[in-house]
Amino acid sequence: MQLFQKIFHSSFSIIPKIRLYLDLGTTNTRIAIENKGLLLNEPTCIGLNKQTNQYIFYGKEAKTIIGKTPDFIKIIKPLSSGVIVDFDGTVALLKYFIGKAVQPYLVNYRVIKPTISVIATVPICATEIEKKAVIECLQKAGCSEIIIINKTLATATGSGANINSHTPCLTVDLGGGLIEIGIVSGGGVIAYRVIKNAGEVMNKLVMNYAYLKNGIILGESTCDELKINLLRFNQENTTLAVRGKSLENGLPKSIKMSTNDINEALLTSFNQITDMIKEIVEFVQPEIVEEIYKNGIYLSGNLAKVPNINDFFQKELDINTNLVETYGDTTITGLSKLGQNKEMLFQLNESF
Ligand SMILES: Nc1ncnc2c1ncn2[C@@H]1O[C@H](COP(=O)(O)OP(=O)(O)OP(=O)(O)O)[C@@H](O)[C@H]1O
Ligand SMILES: [Mg+2]
Repeated sequence: MQLFQKIFHSSFSIIPKIRLYLDLGTTNTRIAIENKGLLLNEPTCIGLNKQTNQYIFYGKEAKTIIGKTPDFIKIIKPLSSGVIVDFDGTVALLKYFIGKAVQPYLVNYRVIKPTISVIATVPICATEIEKKAVIECLQKAGCSEIIIINKTLATATGSGANINSHTPCLTVDLGGGLIEIGIVSGGGVIAYRVIKNAGEVMNKLVMNYAYLKNGIILGESTCDELKINLLRFNQENTTLAVRGKSLENGLPKSIKMSTNDINEALLTSFNQITDMIKEIVEFVQPEIVEEIYKNGIYLSGNLAKVPNINDFFQKELDINTNLVETYGDTTITGLSKLGQNKEMLFQLNESF
């Protein structure tokens, strides 16, 4: 309430304001500016020089050097399963990302420096402490006005739903840190389930699979590459040669992995998602189920880029599946849309 009032009152102030939308994802961070659209989409990754205690690599650059740095440089992913696990790293990264996104617009404000107001999404499963951590990080990163809203509502809006209508929408956001399944209707979330076994954990499962089956130690980026290039739910069977370290002697070793390997390594994860969708559908009222069956489910998140993933869910669940082709940008698209209605933002912030 206080936060919203601050925003509302300051709209009459002479101090100019830049309004940002932020989707702080476990794998990627997106920032949009009001009336300007999406301006930044970079990996949630930062590099720390442990000797000087200074952050020296950010976003894309930090991601490209994972596994290739000397010992005194540590590449940190400051979020895990959708929540902040490294406070200082998150502050430094947000400061850098916000600076980068607003930089081109600062020339318009030569006389008075604008304040930054931000509307950020936070996963529905976040605790009060985790929500507070997001707010504190944003304050330390230089934002003077902060509103947080439930990420599931933004994702549903980005998927094309009118969250205020009484037509339920079942969204499945397949992200890097969380698989978030939510049923949204009448301005709120009716039911939700969250699975932490998402894209980042799947990379670890690929790593374990190669370790046990091929006796090879693969790097995190290699496993991500294998998942992105080989995982598919069609008949295609592709192979990819990768390099790692032999488990026997620690020397470089190269192996070929196939679609069948990756599918086998990750099938349990995808079965867990179908089980959760079934569970949430069983949990809600029959009227809602009927509407959901009529409209289908909405798949978003970058993991939804896996070829034919919609066919997989359609077959397993016997329900229409709509692929939201903004994929990982669905949440920020929905958030920017929600941000246009200040009255509604107030209500959403209040109820979260
Ligand atoms: N083409 C692709 N095929 C399969 N997976 C992909 C593809 N592109 C990206 N991914 C995976 O998507 C995941 C990241 O998804 P996304 O960017 O939606 O997550 P996020 O929004 O940062 O995380 P979250 O919302 O869960 O906190 C990563 O695990 C990445 O490997
Ligand atoms: Mg996301």
